[in-house]
Amino acid sequence: MVERERAGSGEITLEMLVPLPVEMLKELDFTEIAIYLVHRGRPVLYKNKGVPVSEDFIIELYDRLQNFYIAREDSFLLLGEIEKNLKESFSKDPSPENMKRIFTQMSKVVDVVLALPTKENLGVMEQFSLDLSDYMEKNPSAAYLVAFTVNKDFTTTLHITNVGALVSGFAYHLGFREEIYRDIVTAAFLHDVGKVKIPDNILKKPGKLSLREFELMKLHTLWGAKVLEENGLSRYSHVAKYHHERIDGSGYPEGLAGGKIPIEAQIVQVCDVYEALTGVRPYRDPLSPFDALAVMRDEFVLKGKMDKSLYKEFLTFLYKNRYDVV
Ligand SMILES: [Fe+2]
Repeated sequence: MVERERAGSGEITLEMLVPLPVEMLKELDFTEIAIYLVHRGRPVLYKNKGVPVSEDFIIELYDRLQNFYIAREDSFLLLGEIEKNLKESFSKDPSPENMKRIFTQMSKVVDVVLALPTKENLGVMEQFSLDLSDYMEKNPSAAYLVAFTVNKDFTTTLHITNVGALVSGFAYHLGFREEIYRDIVTAAFLHDVGKVKIPDNILKKPGKLSLREFELMKLHTLWGAKVLEENGLSRYSHVAKYHHERIDGSGYPEGLAGGKIPIEAQIVQVCDVYEALTGVRPYRDPLSPFDALAVMRDEFVLKGKMDKSLYKEFLTFLYKNRYDVV
């Protein structure tokens, strides 16, 4: 490990860095990006720009840490790397492998946006979502391959990416096209951005949240809408705000009922609930698609919390993804 970097007028401080998951080192080229670790609460330069990342280096970090750090100002270099990979994937025909590649890259963008939700980075997320919508519209069969991309690990990033993937297929299946379709897909990738303000010990709590913790968690809807509005992305903020409303009025933050809940938010909600039930959570095993759909029917549709026809359409959509749900 080299000595702590002293850059120009001052030292690199923690506030100047963005944490990223170590998995990213395996999948992207960090040659031109300096890497930092945090040692005893202080940033330490681990690898300078221009130095390739060796296999040994990755193994060493992998065993010891969950995160590494890059300078905030380098996040655009990283997004540039992701863009290269996405462009290549968008030039290929749809296949389960290519869809998986696309959503692996999208999850990295979500990672960067959650770590650093600046106007610039949110704008990149928007652009990539629009590119994805374009790809889906040009390759209709892609919509019916998205269920293959769902990653079972539990992180906020993967949850958002999975929901984005499912919504991109489901909204296409529902017949939305062009501007409205693009808005729904983009809003899905941005729907939980308010979670950047929720402390990790609540987000990753291996058990039920206390009443106080749940009240805090609920605020991610309002915070998400605010982040989007403050960064020129108001056209997506209603989905961030209303994706936890229920049609019987029992949801949050406003207790909206029935048709007052925007259809985009209801579409995201169906995918959100399904993803939560089929994904790994620290406090329970994942449900099979069949069991998850049964829970959605019993606990949501039959109790008047979810639109029945939207649920039925979701079943058809999943069936066309050739999931074993019937
Ligand atoms: Fe949410």
